[in-house]
Amino acid sequence: MHLNNLAKMSRPGHILIGGGTGFIGTTLCKQLKSKGYGITVISRMPGVNRLSWGELQDKGLPKGTTAVVNLAGQNVMDFSRRWTAGFKQNVFFSRVNTTKTLAGLIDNATCKPEVFVTISGVGIYKPDSEKEYTEESQVTPFDFFSDLCNQWEKAAHFEKPDSQKQCRIVTIRSGVVLGRDGGMIKQMYLPFYLGLGGPVGTGCQYMPWIHLNDLTNLIIYSIETPKVHGVLNGVAPNPCTNMEFTKAFGKALSRPTLFPVPSFVLNCLLNKERAVMITEGQKVLPKKTLSTGFKYQYPDIESACREVVSK
Ligand SMILES: NC(=O)c1ccc[n+]([C@@H]2O[C@H](COP(=O)([O-])OP(=O)(O)OC[C@H]3O[C@@H](n4cnc5c(N)ncnc54)[C@H](OP(=O)(O)O)[C@@H]3O)[C@@H](O)[C@H]2O)c1
Repeated sequence: MHLNNLAKMSRPGHILIGGGTGFIGTTLCKQLKSKGYGITVISRMPGVNRLSWGELQDKGLPKGTTAVVNLAGQNVMDFSRRWTAGFKQNVFFSRVNTTKTLAGLIDNATCKPEVFVTISGVGIYKPDSEKEYTEESQVTPFDFFSDLCNQWEKAAHFEKPDSQKQCRIVTIRSGVVLGRDGGMIKQMYLPFYLGLGGPVGTGCQYMPWIHLNDLTNLIIYSIETPKVHGVLNGVAPNPCTNMEFTKAFGKALSRPTLFPVPSFVLNCLLNKERAVMITEGQKVLPKKTLSTGFKYQYPDIESACREVVSK
């Protein structure tokens, strides 16, 4: 047998990844490749080993797909974009419609992948200074982001009962993802590096977070562990407040953090509806994630911040 064919046969699987070109997706693809997985990315931009959303709808799931992951979504924290009705619609539909498309394709595929991993956010839980939220907590939409998360999660469900038996669904409710090259850290690295960083508002609000490597490991763990299904909180096991994060990040950079950013400034600059992601927070625990046996590489904010600034 030709060596290439032998290599293909011994691969652990082939993963289809929506939004695989982004901050989380790029690291996920790298880790999957290093484990020997084959990858096809769904992207709006053409490229090698890529499919567009249109091509996917025309052709169906690529043959031999063993897992599907969806990370697609218009960047909410793109501060160059104003929080208009049109932008909000993009934010909403780029998540809900892509997830629906993938669920529909799995539903209709004769040969189904083993697992469909989708992402959602901790914004599904109502900000509260005392309440502790786990995967078992009741969730009722109360604002734009909680409604988005609810619809996003529902969009992953299959219509056919048989599909539910054949393909596991795992929904990871992610906290703020900490990594050097994207997300929140990319926005705040420079001011903190220049010694101009500080807490947001009083800094007392919780800031559910997870290190990028832990999130991508959790996605791979969800793919590889048949007993894992349903909602997992994608947050570190040691929750921290915005002030605790600010201090840890400043310490890792050896910089003071003396300049608080008043909440009203962010409300004016970003729009109050969007700024809640930073000005308010909730205490979220990964109870079920831990009970499945998942092990974190960066369980505390100090080690996570040290890794983020070490690059
Ligand atoms: N980063 C965080 O802290 C965090 C926290 C919680 C949840 N999440 C969720 O995790 C997912 C990935 O996050 P990320 O930080 O990796 O985001 P990202 O870097 O902005 O990447 C998202 C990807 O989505 C695709 N995309 C963007 N706009 C789209 C649109 N209008 N329609 C279809 N696809 C679109 C892009 O792929 P193409 O340009 O190649 O099409 C992009 O690579 C997002 O859904 C995000 O909401 C992230």
